[in-house]
Amino acid sequence: MCGIVGFTGKRQALPILLKGLERLEYRGYDSAGVAVCDGKTTRISKNAGRVYVLKYKTESENLVGTCGIGHTRWATHGKATEENAHPHTSEDLAVVAVHNGIIENYARLKTMLVEKGYAFYSQTDTEVAVKWLDYCLKQEGEPLQALSRFMEQVEGSYALAVLFKEYEGEIYAIRKDSPLLVGVANGESFLASDAPAIAEYTGDLYYMENKEIAQITAGEARFYDERAQEIKKVAVRAKTSGEETEKGAFAHFTLKEIFEQPKAVERTINALLKDGFIDFSAAGISEKMLKERGQVWIVACGSAYHAGLVLQYFFESVAKIPTRVELASEFRYRNPLLGKDALVVAISQSGETADTLFAVREAKRAGAETLAIVNVYGSSIAREAKYTLYTQAGTEVAVATTKAYSTQLVAGYLLGVELARGRGGLDERAYRAWIEEIVALPAKLSQTLEIRGEAEQAAKRIAKQPNVFFIGRGVDYATAMEGSLKLKEISYIHAEAYAAGELKHGAISLIETGTPVVCVVDSMFEKTVSNLAEVKARGAFTIAVAGEGKNVEGAEVTLSVPNSRLFASVAVVPLQFLGYYCGVERGEDVDKPRNLAKSVTVE
Ligand code: G6P
Repeated sequence: MCGIVGFTGKRQALPILLKGLERLEYRGYDSAGVAVCDGKTTRISKNAGRVYVLKYKTESENLVGTCGIGHTRWATHGKATEENAHPHTSEDLAVVAVHNGIIENYARLKTMLVEKGYAFYSQTDTEVAVKWLDYCLKQEGEPLQALSRFMEQVEGSYALAVLFKEYEGEIYAIRKDSPLLVGVANGESFLASDAPAIAEYTGDLYYMENKEIAQITAGEARFYDERAQEIKKVAVRAKTSGEETEKGAFAHFTLKEIFEQPKAVERTINALLKDGFIDFSAAGISEKMLKERGQVWIVACGSAYHAGLVLQYFFESVAKIPTRVELASEFRYRNPLLGKDALVVAISQSGETADTLFAVREAKRAGAETLAIVNVYGSSIAREAKYTLYTQAGTEVAVATTKAYSTQLVAGYLLGVELARGRGGLDERAYRAWIEEIVALPAKLSQTLEIRGEAEQAAKRIAKQPNVFFIGRGVDYATAMEGSLKLKEISYIHAEAYAAGELKHGAISLIETGTPVVCVVDSMFEKTVSNLAEVKARGAFTIAVAGEGKNVEGAEVTLSVPNSRLFASVAVVPLQFLGYYCGVERGEDVDKPRNLAKSVTVE
């Protein structure tokens, strides 16, 4: 979703801001803008559409200056127009700001501002925030007190980067429930909502906490609490590098990241194993804590939710622990009946998904233990959950997740095995067998990548179809759901996943001659093959994803993957390829599908 970048230093700000915005593009956005100050004048340029358009536009504009802020906006309040794009300004440019998040009481604030004589040019909540801040500044006379007052009165979520006209060379920033980090290096300072935007300049980052204020000048950053009292913060070494956000020889980030899966999975396993045994001590997870859990609730959104569904099967079958998976957006509002022995596992690539974050808070409020499986180091969910297991996918740029999903699965399998051991459900032999199975995954994933060509051919046969169905039983149903999501988000083909046995209770009426049905078939093999026969008999074009050496009768195309007791991990790869190649075949923007955002920081 929206991205923020800021710079104040010795060099011209514009190229640094534009490069930062390019690095934030993967978050998903529909307009972009920058504000650059040369000490006297702040100049703004913005447009609906991509950063490259902004880049082109600013070539003929005079945006000189060594201090500035930039933004990519994912529209919430008001369409994706130039007018609604950030930065937003007060009338006399006393306050110029960019904002991530949603100001929830903006309507009330706007009414009050209108009464005070303020006029508005956009439909955004951000313009209201900027003008409210301008009002606070006029009351308080200086930025720190103004920001402190602003935070008292403004409700909702925000990461706000502000240029105050009278404070040359300074950027002020505040945050609540939306990330912001600050980096200082070589007499220059950087600000971003997301580490990759500034990782090439500095690896030491100050992660701002809720309701902190940052005052950033060239080469220095000072931090204050919400009452504007100065606080000391310690910089943390970032776990990302700028290069990760380059796609190299690959046509798309999606393809690059599919290919990165064996390594990402291997890194994740290695980080959680020590001398062949699971070791969660770095996360502070004790054997006792796991042993005392009587139920697991997994909360997540999107693909992370599908990873949760796979893990539900794993936890229940291996650890014999009752497990429920809930969409975080539902969980947080329905007063779930969490037992005192509940472990709430939040799964999130970004660690910033608003619904998942609020689900963690809800779980904590209810007294449950909270454990996050998160990819982005230092992210909000990682910091707020009691325990965090980091996946080691590296920066994932393509909006549709692939490698992060695969790493979520392995981190989850290891958690399941450890839960099983803690609960006395695994003897040493069984424990070792599971570890071996997990450790074998990177090599099997490498082998699975060889399916690329066949998957591309299959994709060519389905790319023109309006509807595709995915079916599977048991854990394969969860994989079918992920395959269906990949296809619809990347290629915009309508896709639905069904439990293979359920299809005939309605959706089979939609099968026509040539309708593609992709069948993930491992669990309950014969029964699923029978379900495939049912759709074939009605004219479906059938594609199976099955273990090597398995003969799937009725499948016109079989995409064979290595056999594994962790079939979900290998079976998802051909489905990722199907989604990817269908998108390519249809000429879609596969890395940045329309309307989608990588990190969904609003409810
Ligand atoms: C967005 C992304 C999905 C992702 C979901 C959850 O919708 O487009 O790919 O699965 O958010 O994101 P998270 O960062 O919490 O895993």
